Amino acid sequence: MRSIDEQGYHFEEWLTPEQIAKDVQQVAHRISADYKDKEPLFVIVLNGAFVFAADLIRALDPSIRCEETFIRVSSYYGMQTTGQLQFIVPLQQVVENRDVVIIEDIVDTGLTIHQLKAHLRGLGATSVKTATMLFKPEKLEYEDARPDYVGHEISEEFVIGYGLDFDGFRRNLDAIYKVKE
Ligand code: IMP
Repeated sequence: MRSIDEQGYHFEEWLTPEQIAKDVQQVAHRISADYKDKEPLFVIVLNGAFVFAADLIRALDPSIRCEETFIRVSSYYGMQTTGQLQFIVPLQQVVENRDVVIIEDIVDTGLTIHQLKAHLRGLGATSVKTATMLFKPEKLEYEDARPDYVGHEISEEFVIGYGLDFDGFRRNLDAIYKVKE
């Protein structure tokens, strides 16, 4: 099993690239079915979701006509949430009358998705759903942030890799690694 040390913590490989690819296919399959007759706008949450989003949009059925745009928010420092969401890169695209799918790397407390959904609805989106690679159901604090499409559920552990970072590092890992106590 592969392992990584980062800032005094030991991480062990949890989801291999092959397992991740299966999860991505499963999510892409469901989105392709649900958006068959629509033109979804994917709102990709930077920085973490760019890896998952790149794989996900290419795994969609080729008949899906979609667009992508980016938003950057920040609520985390190290392994602790600050509870304050800041819009660092605001939305560049008109979302009015669009079927929006937010793409996230991980839904933890749900604060990010809760606030983003309110923001997108306020801008007139027809519908707002969420696709996330990982979901920590035990930590969810905002019921309206429960994701519609989930690659894999995880309990409360901290993870890195496949877009997920520890203070900005380790997003490039091709697998997802779990912290070991
Ligand atoms: P939420 O707003 O509490 O749902 O947190 C969502 C954001 O927290 C994600 O987009 C990540 O940036 C970050 N996050 C939450 N858990 C982890 C983790 O285990 N590893 C890395 N980042 C995480």
